[in-house]
Amino acid sequence: MQKLEQLYEGKAKKVYKTDDPELLIVDYKDDATAFNGIKKGTIVGKGVINNQMSNFLMQKLEKEGVPTHFVEELSERETLVKKVEIVPLEVIIRNIAAGSFSKNYGVPEGEKFASPTLEFSYKNDDLGDPLINSYHVLAIRLATKEELDTITKYAFKVNEVLSAFWAECGITLVDFKIEFGRLSDGTIVLADEISPDTCRLWDSKTGEKLDKDRFRRDLGGVEDAYAEVMRRLREHN
Ligand code: TMP
Repeated sequence: MQKLEQLYEGKAKKVYKTDDPELLIVDYKDDATAFNGIKKGTIVGKGVINNQMSNFLMQKLEKEGVPTHFVEELSERETLVKKVEIVPLEVIIRNIAAGSFSKNYGVPEGEKFASPTLEFSYKNDDLGDPLINSYHVLAIRLATKEELDTITKYAFKVNEVLSAFWAECGITLVDFKIEFGRLSDGTIVLADEISPDTCRLWDSKTGEKLDKDRFRRDLGGVEDAYAEVMRRLREHN
């Protein structure tokens, strides 16, 4: 499958057309941004790791009944995916307080929740991806009630499957952000990526952060953390 014209360039990926109108090629970059693009940098090798990790996890999720956009890994950084219209919501599941949750609600980072939480942010860079609730989503027609129910069901399933998988790898899945899209027939599928860019992953024993927070918070050892997560994933697949 050949890359045709570039359709879109995001912060971490480029997307290309193919000769099949239903399929696109995603090309993962090493670029990293945080705080809505204000902080910029490079995480060497990240594109390869995020591509391979995301593809591995999406295939695992497919087997567990969560449909995804994944079709075929084409190279270290490129993957063939089904074309979707992205539902403009960041779907965030949390198992342990961290990041914006700790800040917004005054709950210390590391406090384990009684039950997982789900929240939506409106994917809109101009507005800074604000939190949005399901009534707002319906009111401004970002998704239908049926779509929100499907997205919610899949998001909790993703949490179950990935929490169990990462636990086998000695990693605690603290929280993560996923995105969904609509195929041309309206079917909702998991899209975008699942990687240390989009998940908080803590070493289960030491609590060490093995994700993009090392970049966001200038903790150093960013490349090593991504490589360590990938190493553990390979050991357990
Ligand atoms: P938060 O605590 O900053 O709201 O982040 C929650 C989760 O979402 C965390 O795993 C990191 C991920 N995330 C993204 O993937 N993209 C983003 O733009 C932000 C802000 C968070």
